Amino acid sequence: MTPQTNSGRRRQPRELVALYLPICFVLITLLLTARLDGYGKRLVGVDAPWAEGSTNDATRGAAPWRSSHSAVLAMATIMGMDAFQTFLGSLRATGYSGHIILGITGDGGWGGGEDVVDYLTSQNVTIKPYVVGSPGSYSEYKTSHARFFLYRDWIENCTSCTDGIMLTDFRDAYFQADPFATAVTLGQQYPIMVFEELVDGVHDATHSLTNHPVSICRGYTFGPHQPIFLSPRPLPPVLCSGSTMGSREGILEYLRAMTTEIKHWKNTEKCNFDMAGDDQSIHNYLYYTNQLNYTTEKGTVVNAKAIPHRTGSIHVVGVQADRIYRNVSETVGCKPWPEPCPERANYYVKDDVWQKWIPERPGFGAPNDTTSLLDPDTGMILNLDGTPSAQVHQVDRFGDLPQRWFEMMSEKGWPYNKATWP
Ligand SMILES: *[C@@H]1O[C@H](CO)[C@@H](O)[C@H](O)[C@H]1NC(C)=O
Ligand SMILES: *[C@@H]1O[C@H](CO)[C@@H](O)[C@H](O)[C@H]1NC(C)=O
Ligand SMILES: *[C@@H]1O[C@H](CO)[C@@H](O)[C@H](O)[C@H]1NC(C)=O
Ligand SMILES: *[C@@H]1O[C@H](CO)[C@@H](O)[C@H](O)[C@H]1NC(C)=O
Ligand SMILES: *[C@@H]1O[C@H](CO)[C@@H](O)[C@H](O)[C@H]1NC(C)=O
Repeated sequence: MTPQTNSGRRRQPRELVALYLPICFVLITLLLTARLDGYGKRLVGVDAPWAEGSTNDATRGAAPWRSSHSAVLAMATIMGMDAFQTFLGSLRATGYSGHIILGITGDGGWGGGEDVVDYLTSQNVTIKPYVVGSPGSYSEYKTSHARFFLYRDWIENCTSCTDGIMLTDFRDAYFQADPFATAVTLGQQYPIMVFEELVDGVHDATHSLTNHPVSICRGYTFGPHQPIFLSPRPLPPVLCSGSTMGSREGILEYLRAMTTEIKHWKNTEKCNFDMAGDDQSIHNYLYYTNQLNYTTEKGTVVNAKAIPHRTGSIHVVGVQADRIYRNVSETVGCKPWPEPCPERANYYVKDDVWQKWIPERPGFGAPNDTTSLLDPDTGMILNLDGTPSAQVHQVDRFGDLPQRWFEMMSEKGWPYNKATWP
C-alpha cells in the first residue's frame, strides 16, 4: 500500500496534512487488575488518575463484547483493490467474524469493478453504496460529515450489531489483532472511547486547526483551563475523529451528539468552513466540553473515555511516522511524499529482511517513548506495553518505508495476526 495509490477522506492539501499531525504523548499505561465476577475471570481497567469518575462497562458487570455481534464501520471512497485487501484481509486474518459495514462511493466513482465487489462479498462485507444525491445519502453535508448520519442509520438497521462498534477511517488503517477481543482483554470496554494522538509540545488540541473553527463557531478555546483536562498533562491531546469505539448504545449516543452538532455547524453561516478535518474539530470540542456521554439504564452518566496514545485497540501513528519518514527523506535528500524517490522506499530493509522496515529503536520519532515502535521479528507496530496494536491508523505517514512489508503481508496472508496478544 502506498499513498499514491490510495486516496480517501483525508485528501487534504499537503500543508494541511503536515499541520494536522497526530502527536503522541507519553505516559501512563492503564494498570490492569484481575477480578472475578459473574462472567468469570476478567481484566478490569483501572482508570488513570485524571479520569476519575469515568466508568467502564467491564466494571459494571456487562458481558464481554463478542466479535460475532460486533461491527466495524467505515467509508471507503475511490479505492483500488490493494486498499480493500489491506484493510479487510488484515481484519479477517485476525479471526474477526463480525460485521463489516462499508460505505462505498457508487456512481462509477471508485477504482474497483466486479473484482472488488467479488472480493468484498467473499469477505462478508455489507456494502452500502454511497451515491451523492440519492435519498438517504445526506449529501447536503460534506462526506466527512455525512458519514456520521450514515453510521447511525447503518447501526440502527443492524439488529445483530449488539456488542462492540468501531467507526474507523479506511484508506490508512490495517489490523494486527481483533480490536474487540483486545479491548476486552485490556479491560477497555467503555460505552464511548475516543483515541488520543501523540502530543509533542507543538501539536495538541490548542493547535489552530482544532482551535480556529471551534473558536469562531462556538467561541470556545482549547487549553489547560479545561476542567476535563487536569494535570499532570499541560496540554490537551488531539483526539482522532477517524477512530472511535464503544458499545452499540454508547456509539449511538456519540453519533447523536455528533450529528446534532454537525447540523448546527451547517445551519450557522459562520460555522461553514471550507476545510478538510473540521469533523475532528467538532469531535474534540464535544469531548472537551463534556458533551460525549452515555446514560446507563440505572441512570449513571458515563463520560466518553479518552484512551491514551499507544495503550488501546487503536494506535494513531501519524506524528511519529511522519517524523521517521521526514528523517529518511532528509537523509537521502528527497522531498517528502508524494515526490517519487526510489532510494527512500524500504530504506531500512537490508538483505530483504522485510520485517525490519524501521529500526528497533525506542524513542525514534517520539523521544519520550521508552519502548520500540516495531517488533523486528514480525514488522508489527507495537503499543507501549510491547504487544502489537490491534489497529494501526495513519500508516500512510510512513510513506513508502513499509512497501515491501505490505507486499509480503498481502502475499503471505497476514501470518502474524491473531485474535489478541497477551
Ligand atoms: C463468511 O460467512 C460464511 C458464512 O457464515 C463463513 O462460512 C465464512 O467463513 C465467512 N468468510 C469470512 C472471510 O469471514
Ligand atoms: C435497512 O435494511 C433494509 C432491509 O435489510 C434495507 O432495505 C434498507 O435499505 C436499510 N436501510 C439503510 C439505511 O441501510
Ligand atoms: C517530552 O517530555 C518533556 C517533559 O515532559 C516535554 O517537555 C517534551 O515536550 C516532550 N517531548 C516530546 C517530543 O513529546
Ligand atoms: C452529557 O451530554 C450532554 C450533551 O450531549 C450534556 O448536555 C450533558 O451535560 C452531559 N452530561 C454530563 C454529566 O456531562
Ligand atoms: C534521523 O534520526 C537519527 C536518530 O534519531 C538522528 O541521529 C539523525 O540526526 C536524524 N537525521 C536527520 C536528517 O534528521
